[in-house]
Amino acid sequence: IFDGAVEGSKFAAAEIARLIRDKQSKNENCVLGLATGSTPKSLYVELVRMHKEEGLSFKNVISFNLDEYYPLEKDAWQSYNNYMHRHLFDHIDIDKKNINLPNGELPKEEIKKHCAEYEKKIEEAGGIDLQVLGIGNNGHIGFNEPGSSIYSKTRLINLENSTRLANAYEFANISEVPRLAITMGISTILKAKRIILLAWGPSKSEVIQRSVEGAVSESVPASLLQQHSDCTFIVDHVAASDLT
Ligand code: F6R
Repeated sequence: IFDGAVEGSKFAAAEIARLIRDKQSKNENCVLGLATGSTPKSLYVELVRMHKEEGLSFKNVISFNLDEYYPLEKDAWQSYNNYMHRHLFDHIDIDKKNINLPNGELPKEEIKKHCAEYEKKIEEAGGIDLQVLGIGNNGHIGFNEPGSSIYSKTRLINLENSTRLANAYEFANISEVPRLAITMGISTILKAKRIILLAWGPSKSEVIQRSVEGAVSESVPASLLQQHSDCTFIVDHVAASDLT
């Protein structure tokens, strides 16, 4: 529990940098699972700073993003592809061919194959070493909405209206927020060797309490993280305020 988002993000960034450097010293790749949304923006600010000021290199990093809206063009401002380039990839030395995001541009009949290939690519990279997560007010991780199975893999999912409303600020109006998204599944996330979930501010306190102290249930997807052997919630005092 940290004073604020900046302090929590600095801790998370230091953990990520330590892992990247450790892998570099062994000549190994570092496979990162990455999230978007408002929560990890301060994490990416710190990682970019570490690259520019402390020489942290991302040359050995392979990234897999959690999710992408569907349908949405890669270059649309609201796309998570665009977000990741704006907030991180354009400012670091990651090899562009090591960047992976679900593709929101494909025709619907190709999505199943694309999702299976995404899973396979993660496996071929050696699995995710560290997965960064945010959390939705309804407990979603990635875009795994309540009811998502613990066995779920990367797939197309219907977004809840509450999720569309929460993300409407990025669009001209709510009707433009896509109703679908491609997301890594819960099982995809749980296979990561290490997981860190970030949450800041008052809107997250209730769901943090339910996820950490409540029953393990598919109705609160983040509660399924209780079953992971190396998962850390990094929160600020406000997001922690409903914990007993
Ligand atoms: C984003 C993602 C989502 C967000 C969640 C919280 O890639 O997977 O689970 O982490 O919707 O969003 P913010 O951070 O905007 O509150």
